[in-house]
Amino acid sequence: MYVILRLKGLYMTKTIAFHLQKGGVGKTTISGTLACQSALAGIPTLLVDLDPQGNASSWFLSETPKHELADVIQGKCYADDAIIQVNNIPNLYILPTFGIGGTLKQYSETKLADEPFVIQDLIQEFKGKYEHVILDLSPGLGRLEKSALIASDEVLTPMTPEAFSLDGLEIFIDELARLKKNFRLPIIHERVVINSYDERIKQHRDIYNSAKKGNFRIYMIPVDPVFRKSQELKIAPQLYREKGKSLKQKTLLAFELMEKEVWN
Ligand SMILES: Nc1ncnc2c1ncn2[C@@H]1O[C@H](COP(=O)(O)OP(=O)(O)OP(=O)(O)O)[C@@H](O)[C@H]1O
Ligand SMILES: [Mg+2]
Repeated sequence: MYVILRLKGLYMTKTIAFHLQKGGVGKTTISGTLACQSALAGIPTLLVDLDPQGNASSWFLSETPKHELADVIQGKCYADDAIIQVNNIPNLYILPTFGIGGTLKQYSETKLADEPFVIQDLIQEFKGKYEHVILDLSPGLGRLEKSALIASDEVLTPMTPEAFSLDGLEIFIDELARLKKNFRLPIIHERVVINSYDERIKQHRDIYNSAKKGNFRIYMIPVDPVFRKSQELKIAPQLYREKGKSLKQKTLLAFELMEKEVWN
């Protein structure tokens, strides 16, 4: 059945979010790189920039777009008018957010209170058009982040190998349980990505072991300078090749594994 639908160009869309309320743990880097991994594998993939900072958008777009996510959710334009095909990455599409000064922050602080399902309704429009939908969230756990989690089939938690991230994971588990109960939603949360992981460091191994106790499937990503470089050059990290440098083998393997396991 699935094969027939796929041959007809109708996709069984799955939506995933990357979230931890803590800032700077790699939400944008990991969601953007996984989006590239899917797209480069030939899968129609939509990255939705739900962060008022607009980091994912400035990574993948060279020019300020005409429309943004906030325009779509306020009914000022259609989603198709705002979605942009990313240059040089076939199959990767982005629903952008302008950086600071844009309207997403304003919207989330005012009108969103009455519309917790606005992102869920929006995602419904993408069903069948994109096979993989990835949401990049901002730090914090306010209305905007909650409405994005409500819209997700699964949430993955990126964290750095430090005690504060582990505390953050515990808080997030509780908050997500409350959200699932209040909205009667079966959002899956069974994967953690430990970012900037170095197995030679005991503290990192301890954090890994603590996260493992939560029965999470864990992916480890090393410190990899190619992320920052690819963000500066506005390209997919997988396509970065300069002065003989490319993504580390461990980084590539982690994303290949995530790509294989997350969408099934
Ligand atoms: N594995 C890594 N190796 C090297 N640099 C990394 C790695 N992961 C992330 N970075 C860099 O760390 C910085 C923070 O990452 P990123 O913006 O993805 O975090 P974030 O969780 O999205 O932040 P925010 O909470 O502000 O949205 C970026 O400059 C990014 O390039
Ligand atoms: Mg981010």
